[in-house]
Amino acid sequence: MTDRLTEIFNSLPSCKVFADVGCDHGYISLEMLKSNKAEKVIFSDISKNCLEKARELLKEYEKDGRAEGYVSNGFDNLPPFDLALIAGMGGEEIISIIEKAKDLPQKLVVQPMKNSPKVREVLLKKGYKIIKDYTFKAENKFYDLITLEKGNDFLTEEEKEFGRTNLALRPTAFLEKLSVRKKALRSYIENENIGESAREELVEELKRIEKIC
Ligand SMILES: C[S@@+](CC[C@H](N)C(=O)[O-])C[C@H]1O[C@@H](n2cnc3c(N)ncnc32)[C@H](O)[C@@H]1O
Repeated sequence: MTDRLTEIFNSLPSCKVFADVGCDHGYISLEMLKSNKAEKVIFSDISKNCLEKARELLKEYEKDGRAEGYVSNGFDNLPPFDLALIAGMGGEEIISIIEKAKDLPQKLVVQPMKNSPKVREVLLKKGYKIIKDYTFKAENKFYDLITLEKGNDFLTEEEKEFGRTNLALRPTAFLEKLSVRKKALRSYIENENIGESAREELVEELKRIEKIC
């Protein structure tokens, strides 16, 4: 397990049936079974080759009925589960999985590679509330990890952009990410070749970051 996967695994609550959507290697599914955090695991991937990797890793659990593998686009045709993880995909892909799902699980953990604000907005519209939403650093990169449960919620513009737990608790990784972003923004803004409207957008983003720092 990489540090990123370990952080994700540690954030997952216990459940009856866990769905690892876009499981690829299947490492998280394996840890959920080994640790007994999940009684049963549904592991799925849109790619047959990726699913075969996970199937090889989880074959003993498949034999004894604690794991079932599916080639599936998002939640399509999966049996019921109470907790799902969608990690390591772009935000737009996560949104498309959520938008076309017939049923959504009680609990959901997502780790979008990009577009976290849009993911937060869509998930709240779909009837989730945010339990935890923070930035962590692993393998020298920053990631957002969002834990949700069904319920009502409301996000301020700042919470949507930066993540609620980040604003409340200011974890080190979040502050470091902001500091890296501020430096990059200042250098883009100073670039003479940049267009005026692009510069204005960057200046506005810098102001928003400075406001919360
Ligand atoms: C970068 S891997 C991430 C694997 C693992 N979840 C992780 O966090 O390390 C993304 C995986 O998602 C799968 N994937 C992409 N779009 C998907 C979709 N709509 N439904 C299911 N799997 C999908 C890809 O085939 C790939 O195996």
